[in-house]
Amino acid sequence: MFKNLLLVKPVSPTPEVDAGEHDHGPLKGHGQLNRTLGAKELLLLGIGAIIGAGIFVMTGQAAANHAGPAIMLSFVLAGTACAFAGLCYAEFAAMLPVSGSAYSYTYATLGELVAWFVGWSLVLEYLFAASAVAVGWSAYTNSLLQTLGLGLPAMLTSAPFTFHSGQFQLTGGLFNLPAVLIVAGVTYLCYVGIRQSATANAVVVAIKVTVILLFIGFGANYINPDNWVPFIPANEGGDKFGWEGVVRGASIIFFAYIGFDAVSTAAQEAKNPQRDMPIGILGSLAVCTLIYIIVSGVLTGMLSYTELGTAKPVATALEAYPKLTWLKTLVELGAIAGLSSVILVMMMGQPRIFFAMSRDGLLPPMFGTVHPKHQTPHKATIVVGLVAGLLAAMFPLGVLGDLVSMGTLLAFATVCAGVFILRRTRPELRRPFRVPFAPLVCSGGVLACLYLLSSMGWANWALLAGWTAVGMLIYFGYGYRHSRLRAARTSSS
Ligand code: ALA
Repeated sequence: MFKNLLLVKPVSPTPEVDAGEHDHGPLKGHGQLNRTLGAKELLLLGIGAIIGAGIFVMTGQAAANHAGPAIMLSFVLAGTACAFAGLCYAEFAAMLPVSGSAYSYTYATLGELVAWFVGWSLVLEYLFAASAVAVGWSAYTNSLLQTLGLGLPAMLTSAPFTFHSGQFQLTGGLFNLPAVLIVAGVTYLCYVGIRQSATANAVVVAIKVTVILLFIGFGANYINPDNWVPFIPANEGGDKFGWEGVVRGASIIFFAYIGFDAVSTAAQEAKNPQRDMPIGILGSLAVCTLIYIIVSGVLTGMLSYTELGTAKPVATALEAYPKLTWLKTLVELGAIAGLSSVILVMMMGQPRIFFAMSRDGLLPPMFGTVHPKHQTPHKATIVVGLVAGLLAAMFPLGVLGDLVSMGTLLAFATVCAGVFILRRTRPELRRPFRVPFAPLVCSGGVLACLYLLSSMGWANWALLAGWTAVGMLIYFGYGYRHSRLRAARTSSS
C-alpha cells in the first residue's frame, strides 16, 4: 500500500487540456486554446491575480496588531519566501507548460498521497481566498455606499462568528450580505463560462495600479515621519509587536502575494511558455513587492499604525485628510474592481482543480462533468460557489485569510521540494528555465515557508489539522480506491 501512495504520474505533457491548471478557457481543449499570451499579458495576468484584499484590507490589521510601521519589513520577508517559490514555479511551468499547478507538479514528483494533500491545500488557496477577498470587497463596497448615504446596517455586513483563542464566538452580526452577493454573481459568470480575456484583465489591472499610484503620489505629501517611530514597536507579549510581530505580520500579508502562481495556470495559452512563464511569474512578483513596500510605507506614514486596524485601511488613511476625499472614492472604486477580478480568478481556478483531481479518479466523476453548452465544470462551480458563499457570509477575513495563507505556504513548500527532487530523479528532462543555485533556493524556499508557518498560532494549526483530516478521510474513503493511475499500474503489472 505504501508504494501505491507514492505512485508518481509520468512527467510528460499530454495533448489534452489539463483542466486542473487551466483558468481561462473551455475545458475540452484538444487544441481549442490558442497560444495568444505574450510576456506582457502574462505579467498583467499575474498582477491582476495578486493585488487584492492583501494590500487593500489586511495590511491595516497586520500593522495595527502585529508589526507596526515595520509592516514594510513584513512585506520584504513574505516577498522573499515568494521569490524562492516563484523561481521554483517558473522552473516547473516552463518545463511542463501543459500542466501548471502545484497539484500536478506534486503528482509528478512526490506521489499521489502528497499530491492529494497539496490539491486539498489548494482548496484553501483558491476557494477560501475567494471567500476572504469577498469579505474585503464587502468592506469597500459598504464604505462607498456609506459615502452615497446608502450604507447597509452593520448586522448585514459582518460575520456572525469570529475565532479567538481557539474558540468560535458570536459577534452579534447576522451575515455578510454584500460578500454573498459578489460570490453569487461571480459563480454565475463562472457557470456560463466567462473568459477573463487578457484585454479585460489589462483594464482592471490599469485601474487598480492607477489608484495605487495616485494613493502613493498624493499620500506621500501627507507623510509624517514621526508615525514611523518606533519602527518596530516593543513586544507586548506573544506576537503583538517586536520581531515576533514582524514575522506574524509577514504570515498575514503573505496573502497579498498569492496569485503569482496563477500565471502558471495559463501556460497553455502562452505563445512561448519556456521564455515567458518565468517573466510573467517573477516579473509580477517583483512589481507587486515594490508596490506593497511603498504603499505600506505611505500608509503607516500618513496615519499612526494604531489607527489602521480597519477593514479598509487605505480609505481610512485618506479619510484623515479632507483634501483627499476625492481620492478615497476613487480608491474604493479601484479596490472594488480589483477585488472582483481576484475573486473571479480564484473561483475559476478552484473548479478546474477539482476537475483535474476528478479526472485522475481522486474525486467523484460529478466534479469532472462539463456543461454541454457552456463547456464549464458547472457542477463543481456550483459546489464551489455554495461553499465560498457560506464561508464569506459567516466568517471574518482574519480567520479565512490565515487558512488561505497556511494552505498556500504548504503548497509552495512542496513545490520547492519538488523541484529539488525532480532534479535528482529526472535530471535528463529539458528545463528551459533553471532555478539558479537550486539546492540553496529550494531549501531556502521550504525553510522560509515553514518559518512563516511557524508564526501561526496553535488555534490556526488546529483548524488546519481538522481540514487535513477531512481531506485524508476523503482520500482514503474515495480517492485511493478510484485512482486511475493506480488502476492503470495494477492492470499493467
Ligand atoms: N493576493 C490576493 C489578494 O491579496 C489573493 O487579494
